[in-house]
Amino acid sequence: MFRRLEEKDIYELYKMLNSCKDNGEYFRPHSFEKLKLKKLLREKLNHYFVLIINDKIIGYSMLRTFGIFPHPTFGGIIHKDHRGVGFGHSLLIHTLEKAKELNFEKVLLKVDEDNIIAINLYKKVGFKEIQKESNQYWMEIEL
Ligand SMILES: CC(C)(COP(=O)(O)OP(=O)(O)OC[C@H]1O[C@@H](n2cnc3c(N)ncnc32)[C@H](O)[C@@H]1OP(=O)(O)O)[C@@H](O)C(=O)NCCC(=O)NCCS
Repeated sequence: MFRRLEEKDIYELYKMLNSCKDNGEYFRPHSFEKLKLKKLLREKLNHYFVLIINDKIIGYSMLRTFGIFPHPTFGGIIHKDHRGVGFGHSLLIHTLEKAKELNFEKVLLKVDEDNIIAINLYKKVGFKEIQKESNQYWMEIEL
């Protein structure tokens, strides 16, 4: 099941994100403190989602405009114990569908140049590199 992040998810998401810290160094969109995660629920112009399999949160994604950008940026992570079996692809596709529903025309993202797994995933779905900034690529997809 893919749905918006809810208050009842905060503790499980907190545990998941903190357990992925060692492998998830590429994913640093915000702090993983519990208070910060609770505050996300009040952000009206950013959108946060969870992927739930067998009643467990195994994926987390976001579309964020911060109220100032016309196009949202994507971020996402799959629990380290559940990678490599298609959930990252599924999380991204669901999130892009939501972006369409929200009437966005494009989605952007920034990815570290050595995050080969994520870059492969983004290219597979149709993201194109548009700019290199230091050791990161900006990529975009038209919806
Ligand atoms: C990036 C991430 C979300 C991918 O999730 P995943 O569930 O492992 O990916 P999937 O199993 O759905 O694989 C999708 C595609 O990713 C690429 N991929 C997955 N594992 C890979 C590997 N070990 N080596 C190279 N490419 C790989 C492939 O293109 C794959 O498509 P294919 O199976 O048709 O070859 C996951 O690795 C992750 O959470 N990484 C840490 C956080 C992160 O880097 N987030 C992105 C930065 S915003």
